Parts: sequence; structure tokens; C-alpha cells
Amino acid sequence: MDISAIVLAAGAGTRMKSDKPKVAHTILGKPLIRWVVDAAHEAGIDHVVSVLGHQREQVIPLVEDDTHIVFQEQRLGTGDAVAAAREHYRDKTGTVVVLSGDCPLVTSDTIKDLICHCQQEQAAMAVLTMDIEDPFGYGRIERDAQGHVLRIVEQKDCTPEQAKLTECNTGLYCFDIQSLFWALDQVDSNNAQGEYYLTDVLEICRAAGKTICAVQTQDARECLGVNSRVQLAEASKIMQERITTYWMNQGVSMPDPSLVWIDADVRLEQDVELLPMTTITGASFIGQGSIIGPNTRLHNTQVGSNCVVDETIAQSAVLEEGVHCGPRAYLREGTHMCAHSKAGTHVEIKKSTIGVGSKVPHLSYIGDTTMGSGVNIGAGSITCNYDGELKHATVIEDGVFIGSNTMMVAPVTIGSRAITGAGSVITQDVSPDALALGRARQIQIEEYRTRRKNEKKD
Ligand code: UD1
Ligand code: CA
Repeated sequence: MDISAIVLAAGAGTRMKSDKPKVAHTILGKPLIRWVVDAAHEAGIDHVVSVLGHQREQVIPLVEDDTHIVFQEQRLGTGDAVAAAREHYRDKTGTVVVLSGDCPLVTSDTIKDLICHCQQEQAAMAVLTMDIEDPFGYGRIERDAQGHVLRIVEQKDCTPEQAKLTECNTGLYCFDIQSLFWALDQVDSNNAQGEYYLTDVLEICRAAGKTICAVQTQDARECLGVNSRVQLAEASKIMQERITTYWMNQGVSMPDPSLVWIDADVRLEQDVELLPMTTITGASFIGQGSIIGPNTRLHNTQVGSNCVVDETIAQSAVLEEGVHCGPRAYLREGTHMCAHSKAGTHVEIKKSTIGVGSKVPHLSYIGDTTMGSGVNIGAGSITCNYDGELKHATVIEDGVFIGSNTMMVAPVTIGSRAITGAGSVITQDVSPDALALGRARQIQIEEYRTRRKNEKKD
């Protein structure tokens, strides 16, 4: 049978106090709504309908590639939001899963499980419930003495007795399409919030003698709704733990996983070690046996195997195998560290290639540079790549030895195996194998102290 999903994401998310729509807030680099859509896809549901409304222009780009978008023009409640997909479902039969765009922790297994229950029992509606200590804010599941579900009562509509119920609506449902839209026609807004509640579909179906099933989840944490910044942090923490646990099970070591943040799209190989205070974001990749951290931030960065990346910040950089970085290296976009090269302490590199085995060990800035292999850059050396208006390129060929505190004023080329004297300002190209000195010759004034003393006496 054809199964599709509707993701509700038109709400205003007022409790977030944000200029950004709630479902566009991110957890580990991925917007809330993306977590939900991806979980649906993972559960094997190819056809997903997104219901958008509030600040839709910011949400559309997040889902337009792989979901069908419908709009809810006024935020009249979750029932009205589902009704916005009515035209899309006209004359369709089968099963539809309804998910909240603000419940990012839901897993594909849970979705599949609920679909199974709904289909096995040929139910008009299956709802996932959770029993939680602090149910405040959630809709409560009311059952009769035999345990049959009677209705879902929203927090604001609860009698004091109902408010004591701890079994809650998670907001994840599975419906028979025909029954859903039939019941939605009868939902009204006679409640404390004056909204059309999707949750009322349950009581309407039950009254019509249709089968309802309520399945209680084993893991209520999966159903945390993100309505505030505090809940966003809670959900982030849970997702962080889920991701670090996943990678540890894939053979990645982390002495303290609570201090490691790995984005959803990061890929790690076996025997990687992630030390505390390490954040790896975007589409980063870490190859086998590399040690990352402590105190390291890598964004959209590719790290080869057996690298040591210690206290480093890297953005859109590529490190081949056996590279050594840090402590305190800053690798900016377009840095390409070839195999076994080194960017040491207080070194900044931008849009440059550091050749095989080349070393930039201390206190340097290398920008817009193409460096060959086997180069050594002395401490404090800098490529002066910017003249105030334009950026210029530096070429440092194979085997060059740059003396400490050399200023290479670009555009300039240092020929292979050339040497520059410490403290040189290199403004002209250097030929291969040459020694270039660009500094004032040292002068010496003999007996200077004695002379100065005598001058004072005069
Ligand atoms: C809802 C449920 C509640 C459940 C809780 C679980 C209803 C009436 N209540 O409450 O029983 O315990 O989720 O998290 O359904 N939305 C729209 N259009 C609207 C209103 C909401 O698209 O007009 C979307 C929101 O963007 C959100 C989702 O529906 O993604 C849920 O809405 P929200 O207002 O957060 O409902 P809750 O009060 O959390
Ligand atoms: Ca919610």
C-alpha cells in the first residue's frame, strides 16, 4: 500500500522568541524540519507533504527539493493545518503518517512501528503516546476503565483531574486517509484556544465506531517537542548523544563524548580519536587513525588518515594523510595541506597549497600561495599578499628554505632550493639555488658605551 507523510510546520513558534521560523532552527547543523523529513524518508516514505505558513519563504528552501509543499493560510490549529493538504489527497486511499515539524528526534523505526500497528489493526487512527513525569503542555490521553482511548485533551482544556494524567500525545499519528479527512470535516474550534485540533479526530472516529489504537513509546525522549530555546537545547543534547554513540559503535574513540559535537552530515572512519572540546560541522570527513582535538573546530573540512589536528580551527580545508596541525593553527578556506605537511603553532593559512612534507611550524601567515614539496618556512615568516587593493600570489618551489621572519612581498616566486636570509624582505623573484638577502647590512660601532659616557661628561 502506498504510504505518504504530512509534516506540520506552519506554526508561528512564538515561544522561541525568534525572527526565524521555529522549524528552521538547527540541531547539529540540520534544521528541525529536515530531521523530521529525513526520518520519514528513512522509514521508506518517499512522498512527503510539508504544510508551511508562518515565514514560509525561509522554510521553502529547506524542503522544496524532496517534499510537496502546501500552504496553510491562517494558523487555525493542527487540524486546519492537515486540512490544507486536503486537495492533495482528494480521491486518494491508503495510509498517511502525520508528523510535527518541531519533533526532530523521532526515528524511522518508531514511524515504521506505528504504521505496522495501524495497518495490522486496520485502524482509522493510530497515535503514539508517551508516559512522562512532567506532562505539562502536552495533550493528555484519556482512557476508559478498560483502557480504551476516549479522547485527547489539550493542556488548556484539561479539568484538574485530566491534568493529572501522565500519558500524553506525542504528536505522531498514522491515519487511514479517507477517515482522516472525513473526521476533519467535523472538527470545530469550541475549545480554550479557539483552534481546530487535529487531536479531536480521535474522538470523532471513535464515536463513529472506527478502530483507534494508541501505542505507547518506550523512549519518550524521542518525542520531545521543541517549543522553546530550552527544549531546543535539550533536543540538541539528546541528538549529540545519539550521534556520538553511533560513531563510537563504528569504531571512533572519544574519552568524553559529552564534550564532542558532531554534525549530522559528518563522516568518520574507524580508529579516529576525538578529544574533548572538539566540534566537527558541515560536510566534514575524518580519515582512519586521525587524532582530532582537544579544542578543535573543523567545518566542511576533509582530513586524511593518520593526521594529528591539535587545537586547530579549519574551514573548508583539505588535509591529506599524515598532516600535523597545531596547536593553534588556523586553516581558512582553500587551504590544501599535502601529505605529511605541517602547520604548527600560531600559523594562519588561506587559499594555499602546502606541498608534500613542507613545514610551516611557527608564527606565520601564508596566503594565496602555492608551495612545493620539502619546503621549510622559518618562524615568523609572512606572505604579504595584499597591497590594500588586490591580493597577489606567492610561489615557493620545491626544497626552498625560508629564513625566519622573511617577508615575501607578492607577487613573487622563490625558485627551487633557494634560501632567504632571516629578516629579509623579498620583493623580487629569487632564482633556483640562490641565496637572497633583503635586509640592511649590520653595522657595528666599536666602544659605543665608552664614547657615549665621554660625550655626557663634555
Ligand atoms: C500538539 C498537540 C498535543 C501534543 C503535542 C506534542 C494538538 C492540538 N496538540 O501540541 O496534543 O501533545 O503537539 O508535541 O495538535 N502547526 C501548524 N499550523 C497550526 C498550528 C500548528 O502547522 O495552525 C504545526 C506547528 O508548526 C508544529 C505542529 O503543528 O510543528 C504542532 O503544533 P504546536 O502548536 O507546537 O502544538 P502543541 O501545542 O505542541
Ligand atoms: Ca509542539
